[in-house]
Amino acid sequence: MKTFLRLLLQPPITRQFRHKLHHNFHTLTPGEMVLYWLFIRPFWNKQQRFFFEGTLGLWGQMYRAERQALYETIIRERPRQCFEIGTFTGGGSTFFLSKAFTEIGTGTLVTMENNEHYFTKGKNYYEQKLPEQAAHIKFVFASTPSAFDQFILADKKVDAVFFDGAEDGAETLLQYRYFEPYFKAGSIIMFHDWNTEKTAAIKPVVLGDAHWEQMVLLTPPHSVGFAVFKRRP
Ligand SMILES: C[S@@+](CC[C@H](N)C(=O)[O-])C[C@H]1O[C@@H](n2cnc3c(N)ncnc32)[C@H](O)[C@@H]1O
Repeated sequence: MKTFLRLLLQPPITRQFRHKLHHNFHTLTPGEMVLYWLFIRPFWNKQQRFFFEGTLGLWGQMYRAERQALYETIIRERPRQCFEIGTFTGGGSTFFLSKAFTEIGTGTLVTMENNEHYFTKGKNYYEQKLPEQAAHIKFVFASTPSAFDQFILADKKVDAVFFDGAEDGAETLLQYRYFEPYFKAGSIIMFHDWNTEKTAAIKPVVLGDAHWEQMVLLTPPHSVGFAVFKRRP
């Protein structure tokens, strides 16, 4: 209801429209959606549309460059699993990570959300509308990474993690500490909001550890800060 009222009250075309074309379809007002569909979309290629639009029926966050970086990292590194903290409704990062696993044909995204409404919405949507991708996702309703214990593979190694939970630096650091014993040469860690409070405490830890090699760094206006690291021996 609140979202509906907000949509009704904002101007049909906002001053942020140009910037929002770096962001994603679901950030547009209804008027901007029409403008995009008629005058922008026809000139964009399939790849630009894919990362901007995601799955139209499900809200999601992340800028299109960030979505592409997530997707391409999974395609390139082919982890057996990727753990994600912060599913939201599943239309953003979850969609692109699981799409990459679906393309590869193997691998699982284990994604955790602590808001029951978002968790249920996302899980139901994938089961009903995207069963092929749902086959590559385990939805976890929880707020601490220990809920991942049951998904850690027998060799006790974690191949990939994407951190995108609360805007709380201490919490992100604790989440990283959970995974630390499981990292190995080749492990991938990915962070959204690399320039905000969310990653303020973890940033010096990762940047100060010579084993983590930075593979990707996205900055404004294409991102609010997004970073990918790979663990070297
Ligand atoms: C920035 S949003 C994630 C956006 C999502 N990755 C996307 O691309 O659409 C952060 C999400 O993390 C969830 N969250 C916050 N703290 C959490 C925790 N401790 N455990 C699991 N989920 C958490 C919030 O409810 C929220 O849905």
